Parts: sequence; C-alpha cells; structure tokens
Amino acid sequence: MTGPGSRVTGALPATTLGGHAARQLLRLGESVGLSAADSESYARTLLEALGPVARRPLELPPPSQSFLSDDHTPVEFSLSCEPGAPPSLRVLLEPGAGEQGLARNGRTGLRALREMAQRWGFTTDPLDELEDLFFPSSPHGPLALWCALELRPGGVPKVKAYLNPAASGPGRAAKTVRKALKRLGHREAFASLPDSDRHLFFALDLGDWAEPRAKVYLAHDDLSATEAGTLCRMDDGPDPAEIEEFFRIAAGHDTGTAEGELEAGAYGGRAAEEGSGSRVVRRPVQTCHAFTDTGAGLPSGFTLYVPVRDYARHDGEALVRATTLLGRYGLDPALVLRASTAVSERRPEDGVGLVAYLGLAHQRGRPPRVTTYLSSEAYEVRPPGPAPVARPAAPLAVAGLSPAPSPAVP
Ligand code: TRP
Repeated sequence: MTGPGSRVTGALPATTLGGHAARQLLRLGESVGLSAADSESYARTLLEALGPVARRPLELPPPSQSFLSDDHTPVEFSLSCEPGAPPSLRVLLEPGAGEQGLARNGRTGLRALREMAQRWGFTTDPLDELEDLFFPSSPHGPLALWCALELRPGGVPKVKAYLNPAASGPGRAAKTVRKALKRLGHREAFASLPDSDRHLFFALDLGDWAEPRAKVYLAHDDLSATEAGTLCRMDDGPDPAEIEEFFRIAAGHDTGTAEGELEAGAYGGRAAEEGSGSRVVRRPVQTCHAFTDTGAGLPSGFTLYVPVRDYARHDGEALVRATTLLGRYGLDPALVLRASTAVSERRPEDGVGLVAYLGLAHQRGRPPRVTTYLSSEAYEVRPPGPAPVARPAAPLAVAGLSPAPSPAVP
C-alpha cells in the first residue's frame, strides 16, 4: 500500500514535500489500522490541501517560514490515544504555506477550509463570524491559519481550524480572544481563563462534532509542575496531582528531584551546562481551554502540552516518556512506537524533535487522552544533545516564542 502501488504517491516522488508527507500518512494509517482506501483518500486530501507546494522538491528550502514545525514543514502528525477506543490519527497542516505573505496565506487557508466544508457538507459559519478579527488586511504572525484533520474511518475527517489571536498585533491578542469568544456566545469564557504569558492560538471545531469546541491556547513561560496543576478551570476537572505527574514524566523530571533543581535543569539549559552565560529558553508549556456550552462560563476541557523536544536529549528519551505515559493510562505503548517508525526511519537517538509535544487532554464526560505529536521532518532533523533555543532572535519573537520584540539593539 505504501510502496509504488499507492495511486496517490505513484505520481509524486518521495523527494517532494507532498510525496514525503503522503507516504508518512499512508504508513501511519496502516499502523493505526485505517483501511487502505481511507488512508489513500486522506493522503489525497492532504495533497489537495497543501496545493502547489506538494510538488515542491525537498532539496529546495521550505516553502515558507512556517511556525507549524521547527524545520518549517507545513505538516505535523499526531496520535491521540484514549482507553477503550482505537487511537486517532490526526494531521495538522498549513494550506497557505508557500504564499507570499500572511495575508495571502490566510486567504488560501480560508479557501481550503471552505472547499472542505462544501465537499463534506459542513458549515463554516462560526469561522465566517470571526473573519474580521483574525484576518486583518496587514496581519501579524506567527501564523494565519492552520487546519487539522482527524482521520477517522470512513474517509470523512473531523476538521479543526487554528487562528492567530495576535493577527492584529501581539498587544491585541487577549482582546481578540475575548471578542471572539463573546461573538460565539461564550460571554463569560474569557474571564475564566488562567493567567498566562501569551494567547497563542484560537481554534474552532468544524464539521461533524457532537460538541464543537472553541479553544484557547495559552503559553506559560517557566512553568513548574506544581503551577501546571493549578491551571485547569473546568468545573469537575482532573486532580492537580495528575497534571503534575504528567508534566514531570513528559519533561523528564519524574526522578524525585526537588522542584528547585528541576527548574534549573529544565530552563538553565545549555547556559548552565556550558557556562556560556547567554540566556537560553525552551519553548513554553501550553494549556488549552475548551468551551462547549455558552451558558456555562467555564471550560469543559483542559489540555496540557509539554514541548518534550526541548526537554530531552534525543527522541529515544522522548519516546520512553511517551510510552511511560501511555502505560500510566492503560494504553498500549506499542502504538506510539509503531507510529514513530511509520513517520521516520531514522534511529530515535540520532535526533531530537520527531516527538514535538506530549499532550494530556481532559474533556468532560470522556476518559483522558494522551496525544503524541510527530514531526514530519521533511527538511531537517535537529541533532541530539541539549539544545535549547537561544533568545532573542527576531524570528523567534515573530514565531511567538518570546514576548513582543523589544526594540533592536543598535
Ligand atoms: N510549532 C508550534 C509550537 O511548537 C505550534 C504547534 C505545532 C503546537 N504543534 C503543536 C503547539 C502541538 C502545541 C501543541 O508551538
């Protein structure tokens, strides 16, 4: 199925962006038990959504400086696992990758989503209502629009749209989130959000969802496990101890070390080890707060995302943490190992970043879900070793990883 026999990849060499990503999708589909027909049809959907950049040879630089992944591949996979159900395979992509500028990027993204809506018969009304907030004429970064597809059996995906609260400038992000929630009828929602350092994404479930969510993603700089345990605002949410434990395992702090040492280890990074004195940061832990009922005021879902790639020396370590977490939740650890080999043939020890994030999602009325985010690495593999990202670098600020850019040092 994944070889030359595949109709989708037959025409598109593995040395093109689309050929690379479609092959990964086909192999992942097989690894999670999707039918060959479903995988083929989803691979085709991926290529259509990517548009012309699918044909782009991998020897050329990435089509644009996508913030979607570290090496700017405009595609990322994830595997979400919950007890008692088959794993769910998802793909996140940037339909406007390769467009000149974020304004066009966003328009292309909207067009791609509307095409999907037509094809699968869902409404984009909630998105249309927010268009002026998230698509100004001269948008700021770090993104314009991403979409995620949940590749369930049957060939019709569940769709999610990711928008940029900072589209009108980082200083406007909080206000934009508040307005967007209010417009969707979630009048009290904004006030329920915990403190954070940045509003990173605003997401909408589109299509066939029992309870479509509006989701707010927050970045928390220098967060400790204990603090992470306090961030859920659900009515009947998880025990803080569960969140803390997930944080510690995902970040590699589960060895009973004292909190103070953990923080030095987590954020002191290379500066501490090499005594370079330069300030280094790692990507912040994120939380996501999901709102479903307009009457409630409180979120009905909470997710913690740990950017494990910045807290591990190599993907071997990251995969051990992923499998440990799956085991903790009574899930089969082999799921994530199979998925990682489906995406990448390299040895996990030979790089860091294949496993981008580990996430723990709680949604009211459902068992907790553990999600492993797998990078496509079409362009680059980050070499192993402690490699926190150095501050400041304007591109990082643009990418939303550090606060609003301070005036350039003369
Ligand atoms: N690459 C971005 C980041 O690392 C956005 C992103 C991609 C992301 N996949 C994600 C954020 C999964 C949270 C969870 O922040």
